[in-house]
Amino acid sequence: MKFSTSSGSTLHTVKTQAVAVGVFKGGQLSPDAQALDQAMQGALKKIVQAEFKAAAGDSLVIHAPAGLAAERVILLGLGEPDTLDAATLRQAHAVLAGLCVRAGVAHAVSTLCTLPCTDGSAADCARAAAQAVTAACYQYDATLSETKPPVALQQFVVQCARSQAAAVRTALAEGAATGAGVNLARLLGDLPPNICTPTYLGQTARQLAREFKTLKAEVLDQKKIEALKMGSFLSVARGSAEPPAFIILRHVPRTPGTAAPIVLVGKGVTFDAGGISIKPAAAMDEMKFDMCGAASVLGTLRAVAELDLPREVVGIIPSCENLPSGTANKPGDIVTSLSGQTIEILNTDAEGRLILCDALTYAERFKPAAVIDIATLTGACVIALGHVNSGLFSTDDALAEQLLAAGRAALDPAWRLPLGDEYQKQLKSNFADMANIGGRAAGSVTAACFLSRFTKKYTWAHLDIAGTAWLEGKQKGATGRPVPLLVNYLLGQCAA
Ligand code: BES
Ligand code: MN
Ligand code: ZN
Repeated sequence: MKFSTSSGSTLHTVKTQAVAVGVFKGGQLSPDAQALDQAMQGALKKIVQAEFKAAAGDSLVIHAPAGLAAERVILLGLGEPDTLDAATLRQAHAVLAGLCVRAGVAHAVSTLCTLPCTDGSAADCARAAAQAVTAACYQYDATLSETKPPVALQQFVVQCARSQAAAVRTALAEGAATGAGVNLARLLGDLPPNICTPTYLGQTARQLAREFKTLKAEVLDQKKIEALKMGSFLSVARGSAEPPAFIILRHVPRTPGTAAPIVLVGKGVTFDAGGISIKPAAAMDEMKFDMCGAASVLGTLRAVAELDLPREVVGIIPSCENLPSGTANKPGDIVTSLSGQTIEILNTDAEGRLILCDALTYAERFKPAAVIDIATLTGACVIALGHVNSGLFSTDDALAEQLLAAGRAALDPAWRLPLGDEYQKQLKSNFADMANIGGRAAGSVTAACFLSRFTKKYTWAHLDIAGTAWLEGKQKGATGRPVPLLVNYLLGQCAA
C-alpha cells in the first residue's frame, strides 16, 4: 500500500476509482463535495437531499458520476460540522477503506483531511487515516483451507493544502507504520495457540531482525533462563511441554542519540489455562490472546524500526504456556524471583505477574529512561474499564500523563488507576516476601502493586490490556491495541 498527498483545486478532473468527500448532517456539503456537485451540475446535492442522512459512520457510493473523471464518489457522513473531531474522521476513513476493500478498488482519494476538526490537524487526520486504511487491509486466512484473494487497494491519496503536504506525508508514513505494527500484533493474537507458541514468538522476533537492519533479536532458551535464575518465570513454564522463550528485541537506530533506552515488556503467555488453579471451560479459547502484550511489543518495535526512530527501544518478552500437569507449579509453592524476593503462589492463574516480575528485573540492565509493561493481566480490569480504555498504572505522574495523552491522540485511550501502600498490604504472605494474589477487591490494582515491587530502580508504567486487546463474540479477534498508543508515545519522546 502506498500513501501520498495531492494539492490542487480541480478535484473533478482527478482520475481515480474512488474520490471520498464529507457531508454533514442536514445535507450540508463540505467544500470539496460542493466542488464535485458543481461539476456534476447539482446531481450530488440532489442525491444527498433524497437519501443521505450523513450521520457519523454513514456512507453512500455514487457510481459513474457524470462530469467527473473519478469512477465513483463516496459520500462519508460526518455528523454535525461544529463538533467534527478526529475520532469521527478516523471512523469515516475506516468506513471508506472497508468499502474500497470490498469493492476491489485499487486507487482512492480522500478529501477529509482538509476539513477543520476540533481536536487535530490535517497531519493528525492523515496519520489516523493511514492507520485505519492499513488496518482495513488486514484479513486473517492463515489457518483457512482456502486463502483469501489479496486486497486490491494499492494507492491511497490524501488531499491537503500545499503548505501542509510535507507534514501530512510524514504523518502518513507514521500512520502506515503504526498500522503495519497493529496488523502484526493482530495476526499474532489471532493465530491459534498450537501455532503461536513461545518458540513462534521468538522466530517472529528473529524474522523482524532479518527484515529491519536496526533490529537485533536474542532468544534465551530454558537453559539460559535457568542460568539467569528467573525462578518465578520458570515456575509458570514448567507445567507445559512447550519450551519457554525469553525474547529481547532491540531497535538500535542508525543515528543513536545519547538518551537512555525506553524498554517495553510484554506478557507472552501463549495459552493460559490457569494451571492447577484451572479456569472454567467457557471461552477458555480466548486465553490464546494472553500473549497480546508480547504481540503489541513486537508490533511497536516493527513500527519503530520502519520509521527508524532516533531512540533506542528495547522489547522484552517472557513467553510460556500456563497449563496444569504433574510438573506444574501449585498453590502453596514458594519461588525465588530473579530479584531475590520470594513469592508464595496462592493461585497459579495469577501467572502473568510471575513471568513479568523477572522480565522487569532483567530490564534494569539497560539503565532505561522508562520501562512500560503491557499485559492482559486481570479479568478485574475488564470489569472496571470494559473494552474502551486500557488500565494505566504508574508511580511517575509525568510518564502517566505522557502515556494518557499519547493514547488520547492516537484514539487508543487508557485510563489511570491508583497504586498505593494501602493496597500493597493485600499482598502480605506469612511464608514469603509476598503472595501472588491480593484477594478479590481491586484485583487490577493489587496486580499492579505486585509488579511495582520489581520496578524500584527506574521510571515505570504498566498497561493492563485485558479488556482492549481483543474483541469477543461475532467479531472475535485481536485489536492490535495498544500499539497506536505506544508508537505515538515513542514518536513524542523522539520529538522532545
Ligand atoms: N490472563 C488472565 C487475565 C484475563 C482474564 C484477561 C480474562 C482477560 C480476560 C490472567 O492470567 C488471570 O488469570 N488473572 C486472574 C488473576 C486472579 C487469579 C487473581 C484473574 O483475573 O482472574
Ligand atoms: Mn491466568
Ligand atoms: Zn494470563
